[in-house]
Amino acid sequence: MRTRLCDQLGMEYPVLAFSHCRDVVAAVTRAGGFGVLGATTLTPDQLEVELRWIDEAVGGKPYGVDVLVPEKLAGMERGGGFDAAVLADLIPEEHRRFLDSLLREYGIEPPAAEGDPDPGSESSAGIAAGLTGEGALRLIEVALTHPIRLVANALGAPPAEMIKAAHGADVPVAALAGKREHAERHVAAEVDIVVAQGYEAGGHTGDIATMVLVPEIVDAVAPRPVLAAGGIARGRQMAAAMALGAQGVWTGSVWLTTAEAETHPVVKEKFLAATSSDTLRSRSITGKPARQLKSAWTDAWDGPDSPGPLPMPLQPLLVDYALHRIRRAAAAGSPGAVQLVNYFVGQVVGSLNSVRPARQVLHEMIEEYVDTVAGLAGGLQ
Ligand SMILES: Cc1cc2nc3c(=O)[nH]c(=O)nc-3n(C[C@H](O)[C@H](O)[C@H](O)COP(=O)(O)O)c2cc1C
Repeated sequence: MRTRLCDQLGMEYPVLAFSHCRDVVAAVTRAGGFGVLGATTLTPDQLEVELRWIDEAVGGKPYGVDVLVPEKLAGMERGGGFDAAVLADLIPEEHRRFLDSLLREYGIEPPAAEGDPDPGSESSAGIAAGLTGEGALRLIEVALTHPIRLVANALGAPPAEMIKAAHGADVPVAALAGKREHAERHVAAEVDIVVAQGYEAGGHTGDIATMVLVPEIVDAVAPRPVLAAGGIARGRQMAAAMALGAQGVWTGSVWLTTAEAETHPVVKEKFLAATSSDTLRSRSITGKPARQLKSAWTDAWDGPDSPGPLPMPLQPLLVDYALHRIRRAAAAGSPGAVQLVNYFVGQVVGSLNSVRPARQVLHEMIEEYVDTVAGLAGGLQ
Protein backbone atom coordinates (compact mmCIF):
# COMPACT_ATOMS: atom_id res chain seq x y z
CA MET A 1 0.00 0.00 0.00
CA ARG A 2 2.70 2.52 0.94
CA THR A 3 4.64 3.99 -1.96
CA ARG A 4 7.77 6.17 -1.82
CA LEU A 5 5.48 9.12 -2.39
CA CYS A 6 3.60 8.30 0.85
CA ASP A 7 6.88 8.74 2.73
CA GLN A 8 7.75 11.92 0.82
CA LEU A 9 4.35 13.56 1.45
CA GLY A 10 3.71 12.01 4.87
CA MET A 11 0.39 10.29 4.15
CA GLU A 12 -0.82 6.79 4.94
CA TYR A 13 -2.57 6.04 1.63
CA PRO A 14 -1.41 7.25 -1.81
CA VAL A 15 -4.70 9.06 -2.50
CA LEU A 16 -4.73 12.82 -3.08
CA ALA A 17 -8.07 14.63 -3.06
CA PHE A 18 -8.45 17.93 -4.92
CA SER A 19 -11.30 20.05 -3.55
CA HIS A 20 -12.34 23.67 -3.23
CA CYS A 21 -14.04 22.72 0.03
CA ARG A 22 -11.94 22.87 3.20
CA ASP A 23 -14.13 20.28 4.97
CA VAL A 24 -13.37 17.71 2.25
CA VAL A 25 -9.64 18.52 2.34
CA ALA A 26 -9.52 18.09 6.12
CA ALA A 27 -11.69 14.95 6.16
CA VAL A 28 -9.52 13.15 3.58
CA THR A 29 -6.30 14.17 5.32
CA ARG A 30 -7.62 13.08 8.72
CA ALA A 31 -8.67 9.71 7.24
CA GLY A 32 -5.12 8.96 6.00
CA GLY A 33 -5.17 10.46 2.48
CA PHE A 34 -3.88 13.86 1.35
CA GLY A 35 -6.27 16.77 0.81
CA VAL A 36 -5.37 19.55 -1.64
CA LEU A 37 -7.26 22.85 -1.38
CA GLY A 38 -8.06 24.54 -4.72
CA ALA A 39 -7.19 28.18 -3.95
CA THR A 40 -7.48 29.88 -7.31
CA THR A 41 -10.81 31.62 -6.63
CA LEU A 42 -9.72 32.89 -3.19
CA THR A 43 -8.07 36.16 -2.23
CA PRO A 44 -4.89 35.91 -0.12
CA ASP A 45 -6.92 36.97 2.97
CA GLN A 46 -9.59 34.33 2.34
CA LEU A 47 -6.89 31.68 1.84
CA GLU A 48 -5.32 32.64 5.18
CA VAL A 49 -8.69 32.03 6.92
CA GLU A 50 -9.20 28.68 5.16
CA LEU A 51 -5.69 27.43 5.98
CA ARG A 52 -5.95 28.43 9.66
CA TRP A 53 -9.14 26.39 9.84
CA ILE A 54 -7.52 23.40 8.09
CA ASP A 55 -4.45 23.56 10.38
CA GLU A 56 -6.75 23.29 13.41
CA ALA A 57 -8.74 20.47 11.82
CA VAL A 58 -5.93 18.18 10.63
CA GLY A 59 -3.74 18.17 13.75
CA GLY A 60 -0.40 18.07 11.89
CA LYS A 61 -1.44 15.61 9.16
CA PRO A 62 -0.35 16.57 5.62
CA TYR A 63 -2.24 18.65 3.06
CA GLY A 64 -1.45 20.88 0.06
CA VAL A 65 -2.63 23.92 -1.91
CA ASP A 66 -3.38 24.19 -5.66
CA VAL A 67 -3.43 27.25 -7.95
CA LEU A 68 -3.97 27.81 -11.69
CA VAL A 69 -1.50 29.84 -13.74
CA PRO A 70 -2.45 29.52 -17.43
CA GLU A 71 0.39 29.82 -19.92
CA LYS A 72 -1.85 31.64 -22.38
CA LEU A 73 -4.27 34.41 -21.41
CA ALA A 74 -6.03 36.84 -23.76
CA GLY A 75 -5.14 40.49 -23.14
CA MET A 76 -2.66 39.70 -20.36
CA GLU A 77 1.03 38.90 -20.05
CA ARG A 78 1.83 35.78 -18.07
CA GLY A 79 3.39 36.86 -14.79
CA GLY A 80 2.47 40.49 -15.45
CA GLY A 81 -0.32 42.73 -14.28
CA PHE A 82 -3.58 43.56 -16.07
CA ASP A 83 -6.08 46.36 -16.39
CA ALA A 84 -9.65 45.30 -15.54
CA ALA A 85 -11.16 48.08 -17.68
CA VAL A 86 -9.07 47.06 -20.71
CA LEU A 87 -10.19 43.44 -20.28
CA ALA A 88 -13.86 44.49 -19.94
CA ASP A 89 -13.52 46.44 -23.22
CA LEU A 90 -12.39 43.26 -24.98
CA ILE A 91 -15.78 41.62 -24.33
CA PRO A 92 -17.93 42.15 -27.46
CA GLU A 93 -21.46 43.56 -27.13
CA GLU A 94 -22.74 40.53 -29.05
CA HIS A 95 -21.63 38.26 -26.21
CA ARG A 96 -23.20 40.43 -23.51
CA ARG A 97 -26.50 40.49 -25.47
CA PHE A 98 -26.45 36.72 -25.99
CA LEU A 99 -25.96 36.12 -22.28
CA ASP A 100 -28.67 38.56 -21.19
CA SER A 101 -31.14 37.03 -23.62
CA LEU A 102 -30.22 33.52 -22.45
CA LEU A 103 -30.96 34.51 -18.86
CA ARG A 104 -34.27 36.11 -19.88
CA GLU A 105 -35.25 33.05 -21.94
CA TYR A 106 -34.89 30.92 -18.79
CA GLY A 107 -36.79 33.38 -16.59
CA ILE A 108 -33.82 34.98 -14.84
CA GLU A 109 -34.42 38.71 -15.09
CA PRO A 110 -31.97 41.58 -14.75
CA PRO A 111 -31.33 43.77 -12.78
CA ALA A 112 -28.71 41.98 -10.74
CA ALA A 113 -29.53 41.43 -7.10
CA GLU A 114 -27.45 43.10 -4.41
CA GLY A 115 -24.03 41.50 -4.18
CA ASP A 116 -23.95 40.12 -7.73
CA PRO A 117 -20.68 40.73 -9.47
CA ASP A 118 -20.98 42.46 -12.86
CA PRO A 119 -18.60 42.22 -15.80
CA GLY A 120 -15.62 44.46 -15.15
CA SER A 121 -16.45 44.81 -11.43
CA GLU A 122 -13.90 44.32 -8.69
CA SER A 123 -15.06 40.78 -8.02
CA SER A 124 -14.80 39.83 -11.69
CA ALA A 125 -11.38 41.46 -11.86
CA GLY A 126 -10.43 39.24 -8.92
CA ILE A 127 -10.91 36.25 -11.20
CA ALA A 128 -8.35 37.63 -13.63
CA ALA A 129 -5.98 38.55 -10.80
CA GLY A 130 -6.10 35.01 -9.40
CA LEU A 131 -4.99 33.66 -12.77
CA THR A 132 -1.90 35.80 -13.22
CA GLY A 133 1.46 34.49 -12.09
CA GLU A 134 1.59 37.45 -9.72
CA GLY A 135 -1.78 36.69 -8.09
CA ALA A 136 -0.95 33.01 -7.72
CA LEU A 137 2.42 33.84 -6.18
CA ARG A 138 0.66 35.93 -3.49
CA LEU A 139 -1.52 32.90 -2.71
CA ILE A 140 1.50 30.60 -2.52
CA GLU A 141 3.32 33.06 -0.23
CA VAL A 142 0.35 32.91 2.16
CA ALA A 143 0.21 29.11 1.88
CA LEU A 144 3.91 28.76 2.67
CA THR A 145 3.38 30.41 6.07
CA HIS A 146 1.31 27.30 6.94
CA PRO A 147 2.62 23.72 7.31
CA ILE A 148 1.61 22.72 3.75
CA ARG A 149 3.37 19.69 2.25
CA LEU A 150 2.65 20.30 -1.45
CA VAL A 151 2.13 23.14 -3.93
CA ALA A 152 0.30 22.17 -7.14
CA ASN A 153 -0.32 24.10 -10.36
CA ALA A 154 -2.50 23.52 -13.42
CA LEU A 155 -2.74 24.87 -17.01
CA GLY A 156 1.01 25.11 -17.59
CA ALA A 157 4.41 24.74 -15.98
CA PRO A 158 4.46 26.64 -12.68
CA PRO A 159 6.24 30.02 -12.90
CA ALA A 160 9.90 29.90 -11.79
CA GLU A 161 9.24 32.22 -8.79
CA MET A 162 6.58 29.84 -7.50
CA ILE A 163 8.90 26.85 -7.69
CA LYS A 164 11.70 28.82 -6.07
CA ALA A 165 9.46 29.94 -3.18
CA ALA A 166 8.18 26.39 -2.56
CA HIS A 167 11.60 24.76 -2.80
CA GLY A 168 13.02 27.45 -0.51
CA ALA A 169 10.54 26.22 2.12
CA ASP A 170 11.32 22.54 1.35
CA VAL A 171 7.86 22.01 -0.14
CA PRO A 172 7.66 19.85 -3.29
CA VAL A 173 5.79 21.13 -6.36
CA ALA A 174 3.33 19.12 -8.46
CA ALA A 175 1.93 20.11 -11.86
CA LEU A 176 -0.89 18.72 -13.99
CA ALA A 177 -0.10 17.38 -17.47
CA GLY A 178 -2.54 16.33 -20.20
CA LYS A 179 0.14 15.15 -22.63
CA ARG A 180 3.75 14.01 -22.60
CA GLU A 181 5.07 17.38 -23.82
CA HIS A 182 3.50 19.12 -20.80
CA ALA A 183 5.20 16.64 -18.48
CA GLU A 184 8.56 17.22 -20.15
CA ARG A 185 8.16 20.99 -19.73
CA HIS A 186 7.36 20.43 -16.04
CA VAL A 187 10.51 18.38 -15.56
CA ALA A 188 12.58 21.09 -17.29
CA ALA A 189 11.05 23.60 -14.84
CA GLU A 190 12.10 21.36 -11.89
CA VAL A 191 8.65 20.21 -10.90
CA ASP A 192 8.95 17.32 -8.41
CA ILE A 193 5.72 15.37 -9.05
CA VAL A 194 3.76 15.13 -12.32
CA VAL A 195 -0.01 14.62 -12.23
CA ALA A 196 -0.94 12.79 -15.47
CA GLN A 197 -4.55 13.83 -15.96
CA GLY A 198 -6.61 12.09 -18.63
CA TYR A 199 -9.45 13.24 -20.85
CA GLU A 200 -12.16 11.76 -18.63
CA ALA A 201 -11.30 14.09 -15.71
CA GLY A 202 -13.53 16.85 -14.41
CA GLY A 203 -12.33 20.43 -14.96
CA HIS A 204 -9.75 21.57 -17.54
CA THR A 205 -8.61 18.57 -19.46
CA GLY A 206 -6.88 17.53 -22.68
CA ASP A 207 -7.89 14.84 -25.15
CA ILE A 208 -5.79 11.79 -24.20
CA ALA A 209 -7.38 9.10 -22.01
CA THR A 210 -5.88 8.20 -18.62
CA MET A 211 -5.16 4.60 -19.74
CA VAL A 212 -2.90 5.87 -22.55
CA LEU A 213 -1.47 8.94 -20.84
CA VAL A 214 -0.23 7.54 -17.51
CA PRO A 215 2.35 4.99 -18.75
CA GLU A 216 3.53 7.44 -21.41
CA ILE A 217 4.24 10.09 -18.78
CA VAL A 218 5.64 7.59 -16.24
CA ASP A 219 8.24 6.54 -18.83
CA ALA A 220 8.94 10.12 -19.95
CA VAL A 221 9.65 11.57 -16.49
CA ALA A 222 11.15 8.58 -14.63
CA PRO A 223 12.42 8.50 -11.91
CA ARG A 224 10.15 11.42 -10.98
CA PRO A 225 6.94 10.17 -9.34
CA VAL A 226 3.66 10.38 -11.27
CA LEU A 227 0.14 10.61 -9.88
CA ALA A 228 -2.66 9.31 -12.12
CA ALA A 229 -5.77 11.48 -12.49
CA GLY A 230 -9.01 11.32 -14.45
CA GLY A 231 -11.68 8.71 -13.95
CA ILE A 232 -10.52 7.39 -10.58
CA ALA A 233 -13.27 7.08 -7.99
CA ARG A 234 -12.90 3.53 -6.62
CA GLY A 235 -10.36 0.87 -5.71
CA ARG A 236 -10.40 -1.03 -8.99
CA GLN A 237 -9.62 2.17 -10.87
CA MET A 238 -6.88 2.94 -8.35
CA ALA A 239 -5.38 -0.54 -8.86
CA ALA A 240 -5.37 0.04 -12.62
CA ALA A 241 -3.61 3.39 -12.13
CA MET A 242 -0.93 1.81 -9.95
CA ALA A 243 -0.50 -0.97 -12.52
CA LEU A 244 0.17 1.74 -15.13
CA GLY A 245 3.14 2.88 -13.03
CA ALA A 246 1.64 5.68 -10.93
CA GLN A 247 2.83 6.12 -7.35
CA GLY A 248 -0.59 7.30 -6.29
CA VAL A 249 -3.87 8.78 -7.49
CA TRP A 250 -5.09 12.38 -7.74
CA THR A 251 -8.88 12.56 -7.54
CA GLY A 252 -11.45 15.33 -7.90
CA SER A 253 -14.98 14.43 -8.98
CA VAL A 254 -15.56 11.69 -6.39
CA TRP A 255 -15.51 14.24 -3.53
CA LEU A 256 -18.21 16.47 -5.06
CA THR A 257 -21.04 14.21 -3.85
CA THR A 258 -19.63 13.56 -0.37
CA ALA A 259 -21.54 14.66 2.71
CA GLU A 260 -18.93 17.35 3.44
CA ALA A 261 -18.88 18.88 -0.06
CA GLU A 262 -20.43 22.33 -0.43
CA THR A 263 -21.58 21.47 -3.96
CA HIS A 264 -24.72 23.43 -4.90
CA PRO A 265 -27.64 21.24 -3.71
CA VAL A 266 -29.33 21.19 -7.15
CA VAL A 267 -26.02 20.32 -8.82
CA LYS A 268 -25.40 17.55 -6.26
CA GLU A 269 -28.80 16.04 -7.12
CA LYS A 270 -27.97 16.27 -10.85
CA PHE A 271 -24.62 14.55 -10.26
CA LEU A 272 -26.27 11.73 -8.29
CA ALA A 273 -28.72 11.13 -11.17
CA ALA A 274 -26.22 11.58 -14.05
CA THR A 275 -24.74 8.81 -16.20
CA SER A 276 -21.19 8.68 -17.55
CA SER A 277 -22.53 10.03 -20.89
CA ASP A 278 -23.79 13.24 -19.29
CA THR A 279 -20.57 15.30 -19.35
CA LEU A 280 -18.77 17.16 -22.12
CA ARG A 281 -15.74 19.37 -22.58
CA SER A 282 -16.93 22.95 -23.01
CA ARG A 283 -15.29 26.39 -23.03
CA SER A 284 -18.51 28.02 -21.78
CA ILE A 285 -17.40 28.70 -18.18
CA THR A 286 -13.67 29.44 -18.29
CA GLY A 287 -12.83 29.93 -21.98
CA LYS A 288 -10.66 26.78 -22.02
CA PRO A 289 -12.01 23.24 -22.54
CA ALA A 290 -13.22 21.98 -19.17
CA ARG A 291 -15.26 18.82 -18.52
CA GLN A 292 -18.59 19.58 -16.91
CA LEU A 293 -22.16 18.37 -16.68
CA LYS A 294 -24.24 18.91 -19.82
CA SER A 295 -27.10 21.32 -19.19
CA ALA A 296 -29.19 23.96 -20.93
CA TRP A 297 -26.19 26.27 -20.33
CA THR A 298 -23.71 24.14 -22.33
CA ASP A 299 -26.40 23.43 -24.98
CA ALA A 300 -26.96 27.17 -25.46
CA TRP A 301 -23.24 27.96 -25.86
CA ASP A 302 -23.01 25.13 -28.42
CA GLY A 303 -26.27 26.15 -30.13
CA PRO A 304 -26.88 27.94 -33.47
CA ASP A 305 -27.42 31.38 -31.84
CA SER A 306 -24.23 31.25 -29.81
CA PRO A 307 -21.43 33.70 -30.63
CA GLY A 308 -19.06 31.04 -29.20
CA PRO A 309 -17.20 31.30 -25.90
CA LEU A 310 -14.45 33.92 -25.54
CA PRO A 311 -10.88 32.97 -24.61
CA MET A 312 -9.76 32.88 -20.94
CA PRO A 313 -9.97 35.19 -18.98
CA LEU A 314 -12.68 37.05 -20.97
CA GLN A 315 -15.26 34.24 -20.80
CA PRO A 316 -15.10 33.93 -16.97
CA LEU A 317 -15.23 37.74 -16.71
CA LEU A 318 -18.31 37.77 -18.95
CA VAL A 319 -20.24 34.92 -17.32
CA ASP A 320 -19.35 35.29 -13.63
CA TYR A 321 -22.36 37.46 -12.77
CA ALA A 322 -24.70 35.22 -14.76
CA LEU A 323 -23.48 32.05 -13.03
CA HIS A 324 -24.01 33.69 -9.62
CA ARG A 325 -27.59 34.56 -10.58
CA ILE A 326 -28.28 31.12 -12.03
CA ARG A 327 -27.01 29.37 -8.89
CA ARG A 328 -29.05 31.56 -6.59
CA ALA A 329 -32.21 31.21 -8.67
CA ALA A 330 -31.73 27.42 -8.89
CA ALA A 331 -31.42 27.20 -5.10
CA ALA A 332 -34.72 29.12 -4.87
CA GLY A 333 -36.36 26.58 -7.18
CA SER A 334 -36.57 28.56 -10.46
CA PRO A 335 -37.29 25.87 -13.11
CA GLY A 336 -35.27 27.74 -15.77
CA ALA A 337 -32.26 28.09 -13.50
CA VAL A 338 -32.48 24.40 -12.55
CA GLN A 339 -32.21 23.56 -16.26
CA LEU A 340 -29.21 25.86 -16.75
CA VAL A 341 -27.17 25.17 -13.61
CA ASN A 342 -24.14 22.90 -13.97
CA TYR A 343 -20.58 22.45 -12.71
CA PHE A 344 -17.28 20.77 -13.50
CA VAL A 345 -17.32 16.99 -13.10
CA GLY A 346 -15.66 14.02 -14.80
CA GLN A 347 -17.09 10.97 -16.53
CA VAL A 348 -17.03 9.02 -13.24
CA VAL A 349 -20.11 11.03 -12.30
CA GLY A 350 -22.02 8.01 -13.62
CA SER A 351 -20.87 5.97 -10.62
CA LEU A 352 -21.49 8.66 -8.00
CA ASN A 353 -24.93 7.51 -6.92
CA SER A 354 -25.05 8.09 -3.17
CA VAL A 355 -23.91 10.66 -0.63
CA ARG A 356 -21.20 9.23 1.64
CA PRO A 357 -18.84 10.86 4.15
CA ALA A 358 -15.39 11.53 2.62
CA ARG A 359 -13.74 9.18 5.15
CA GLN A 360 -16.00 6.34 3.99
CA VAL A 361 -15.26 7.06 0.31
CA LEU A 362 -11.53 6.88 1.01
CA HIS A 363 -11.71 3.72 3.11
CA GLU A 364 -13.96 1.90 0.62
CA MET A 365 -11.53 2.87 -2.17
CA ILE A 366 -8.59 1.45 -0.19
CA GLU A 367 -10.47 -1.76 0.72
CA GLU A 368 -11.44 -2.39 -2.91
CA TYR A 369 -7.88 -1.60 -4.01
CA VAL A 370 -6.41 -4.13 -1.57
CA ASP A 371 -8.97 -6.81 -2.58
CA THR A 372 -8.28 -6.15 -6.27
CA VAL A 373 -4.52 -6.40 -5.94
CA ALA A 374 -4.85 -9.57 -3.85
CA GLY A 375 -7.27 -11.02 -6.42
CA LEU A 376 -4.89 -10.24 -9.28
CA ALA A 377 -1.96 -11.81 -7.42
CA GLY A 378 -4.12 -14.90 -6.65
CA GLY A 379 -5.15 -15.20 -10.29
CA LEU A 380 -1.54 -15.34 -11.39
CA GLN A 381 -0.60 -18.34 -9.21
C1 LIG B 1 -15.06 20.84 -9.75
C2 LIG B 1 -13.65 20.70 -10.22
C3 LIG B 1 -12.81 21.81 -10.19
C4 LIG B 1 -11.47 21.66 -10.55
N1 LIG B 1 -10.65 22.75 -10.44
C5 LIG B 1 -9.30 22.56 -10.55
C6 LIG B 1 -8.37 23.61 -10.20
O1 LIG B 1 -8.77 24.72 -9.85
N2 LIG B 1 -7.05 23.33 -10.27
C7 LIG B 1 -6.59 22.07 -10.64
O2 LIG B 1 -5.37 21.85 -10.62
N3 LIG B 1 -7.44 21.09 -11.00
C8 LIG B 1 -8.77 21.30 -10.94
N4 LIG B 1 -9.63 20.27 -11.25
C9 LIG B 1 -9.08 18.98 -11.73
C10 LIG B 1 -8.70 18.11 -10.54
O3 LIG B 1 -7.55 18.61 -9.90
C11 LIG B 1 -8.42 16.66 -10.95
O4 LIG B 1 -7.28 16.61 -11.79
C12 LIG B 1 -9.56 15.96 -11.65
O5 LIG B 1 -10.77 16.18 -10.95
C13 LIG B 1 -9.28 14.45 -11.71
O6 LIG B 1 -10.22 13.75 -12.46
P1 LIG B 1 -11.63 13.18 -11.85
O7 LIG B 1 -12.49 14.41 -11.81
O8 LIG B 1 -12.06 12.18 -12.81
O9 LIG B 1 -11.32 12.65 -10.48
C14 LIG B 1 -10.98 20.40 -10.95
C15 LIG B 1 -11.84 19.32 -11.03
C16 LIG B 1 -13.16 19.43 -10.67
C17 LIG B 1 -14.07 18.23 -10.73
